[in-house]
Amino acid sequence: MAKVKRNRTKWRTARTSDPLELYELAVQSPDAEVRMVDRVWKHFGRPGLPHSLREDFAGTCAISAEWIRRRATNSALCIDLDPAVLSWARRHHLSKLTPAQRRRITLRRADVCSANGGPVDAIAALNFSYFIHKSRRALVDYFRHIYGQLGPNGVLLLDAYGGADSFLELTERRSLDGFRYLWETLRYNPISGEVHMAIHFEFPDGTALRRAFTYDWRLWSIPEVTEALAEAGFRRSVTFWEGTDRRTGSGNGHFRPSTRGEACEGWVAYIAAAR
Ligand SMILES: C[S@@+](CC[C@H](N)C(=O)[O-])C[C@H]1O[C@@H](n2cnc3c(N)ncnc32)[C@H](O)[C@@H]1O
Repeated sequence: MAKVKRNRTKWRTARTSDPLELYELAVQSPDAEVRMVDRVWKHFGRPGLPHSLREDFAGTCAISAEWIRRRATNSALCIDLDPAVLSWARRHHLSKLTPAQRRRITLRRADVCSANGGPVDAIAALNFSYFIHKSRRALVDYFRHIYGQLGPNGVLLLDAYGGADSFLELTERRSLDGFRYLWETLRYNPISGEVHMAIHFEFPDGTALRRAFTYDWRLWSIPEVTEALAEAGFRRSVTFWEGTDRRTGSGNGHFRPSTRGEACEGWVAYIAAAR
């Protein structure tokens, strides 16, 4: 397996790369995310384990595919507006599931703001996708809608990013397996809070996929999000803040329920809420 990866590294160029594959490699950790869903369930004192997951803004459905593999009793409903990305999910993730596993996952092309799917144990809306809601009213309406899609013990998992650098028009770069990932703030408007973001990929041969993905968002703060959740009916919410690696001073990948964060240059946090 490692050998295949090393060979791939040599081959990666803009022409031969699949942007959705690179997206997953750069910004997703489905294993950590499904563990986080279980953790949030326990954090709110829910009995047993959660089984049904709705993944909003599901994109390639990587989290749901992992959820299906995690327990034979798990089911997932993936919701995304883009038929192309859902068909990619079918080819790249559903094709790797067994027929029995495939029967437990449903892909639906729909708007998360109106899609119904029956009561579920957990909803995950990750990689800041709910930032598409630019007004407080739109954000609360979305949270109210998904509140209604949760069972009585239901929990919600979101994430958020921020920090001093998030208000600057900067590019963050990371070298990954045979390519470079760039996360650029193209424009931040301090008056409206709107932010335009882009993901670019660069390759060792000098080629690049510029603006492979772009986002037109509002950069919400954690208290704005938790207040909107409360207004939508969620009785409790909690922020999981990342610990700091003492050696490097950066995040250590361990998230703990916290009421006090750190005024650093950049942070990513999970926000969880319960009915
Ligand atoms: C940033 S990607 C998120 C992918 C994945 N959930 C993740 O964690 O990385 C955003 C996805 O949301 C979808 N999307 C945007 N607006 C939507 C809406 N109103 N309803 C459903 N899907 C939407 C887009 O098609 C895109 O696939």
